[in-house]
Amino acid sequence: MPRMTGSDRPPSTDAPERSADFDPLACETFDSPHALYAQLRQRCPVAWSDAWNGFWALLRYEDVRRAASDSKTYITSLQNVVPKVAFTGRRPPLHLDPPEHTPYRRALNPLLSEGAVGRLEQPIRRIASELLAPLLARGEGDICADFSSHLTIRVFAEWMNLSPEDAQRLSAIGRNYNLAVQSADDERVKDTSLQLYEIARRLTTERRTQQHDPSIDPVAALLAARHEGAPLPEEMLIGTVRQVLVVGIIAPTILIGSIVTHLCRDQALQSELRAHPQQWPDALEEFLRLYTPYRGFARTCTQEVTLHGRTIRPREPIALVYASANRDEAVFPDPDQFKLHRPNIGEHLAFGRGPHHCVGTALARLELRLALEQLLAKTSSIELAGRVTPTRMPEIGALSVPVRLSRCPGAST
Ligand code: HEM
Repeated sequence: MPRMTGSDRPPSTDAPERSADFDPLACETFDSPHALYAQLRQRCPVAWSDAWNGFWALLRYEDVRRAASDSKTYITSLQNVVPKVAFTGRRPPLHLDPPEHTPYRRALNPLLSEGAVGRLEQPIRRIASELLAPLLARGEGDICADFSSHLTIRVFAEWMNLSPEDAQRLSAIGRNYNLAVQSADDERVKDTSLQLYEIARRLTTERRTQQHDPSIDPVAALLAARHEGAPLPEEMLIGTVRQVLVVGIIAPTILIGSIVTHLCRDQALQSELRAHPQQWPDALEEFLRLYTPYRGFARTCTQEVTLHGRTIRPREPIALVYASANRDEAVFPDPDQFKLHRPNIGEHLAFGRGPHHCVGTALARLELRLALEQLLAKTSSIELAGRVTPTRMPEIGALSVPVRLSRCPGAST
């Protein structure tokens, strides 16, 4: 059970007595949160939980979409995730509201466009293949611990142009940070977050003195960015580097684990996608909907809001449960089923909506597609070899997926 700290406590002391509609700290399996959210969407779409000093959860698609799009009423600058994990400073763009948020997005957007991340296609394929080799040789491994968690950090290191030493440090600290968040260990979250800040600070200092092309280097781009003629403030710039050091790593790590879990449970689909890799882009969108890895980001209201008969007061945290919205039967019929070519799949909210819509979607899609293509091309079968360990809030999906793999006879390593 996580400790409550002073900074977690909602500022108002006259909070009304409410009874909890659900308990996010209850023991979960890989599938159980989805069953709970299905019930809540029907009977209590704006649900209150007492956990972490209390928060609201919006469960239905339309409510989540509206809240994410309305950044005047629903802001991120007070709290952007439940449970709160940001103890160590403001980190744009996620922790800022427009218009303050805009210059940071403007600096990051071009470096994460489809064209810009295309340069990473060959490196990603090589990294995925290198990481798979030992699993194929052993015939077994853990998809998250041995493959996806390393892959996402190494891809990220390529995008950030990190030295091999920094990439290794990021790998160790990033994994530690994630484990600390998952075990709700506030002290370790703070400690590892400060270590990530150290990397961000040093990178920023180095990029000031070295010549890096701002059209392909994220830190150089942030240093070159101007807002109303002035450079971005030093601490906010470092906060942005610190933010991207983690936000782009956790989600794809978990999602690859969840997708492999699904493919192990559905061997026919596994064979079909192995035989028809051209279906991957469409399959991926459906997997993003089904296994949305960020359970939900948070907002607070600037004014009292009444929704489905519940009154949400300013400063009360609200989780926009993207994972539930994406299984809302009112929008996606048979929501728990994998269906290739859903006509409205483009409407899914796995990457959020509105001003905070994920800036890394092109990189995420590229690395997910290549990782899974490699995984299927190099194997003739993948099976579960043990229990899938689920993640906790604020993520949802697989933390550990033990598998047995058979190498495809014709595949090169
Ligand atoms: C499967 C992969 C990914 C998923 C599902 C995902 C999901 C999301 C979501 C839902 C948000 C919205 C947050 C909100 O509503 O408050 C977000 C924001 C963000 N994502 Fe991603 N993300 C992924 C990969 C990445 C990658 C690879 C990067 C690389 C840099 C990245 C960088 C960011 C950043 C910087 C933000 C904050 C944007 C802002 O506040 O303007 N993400 N992501």
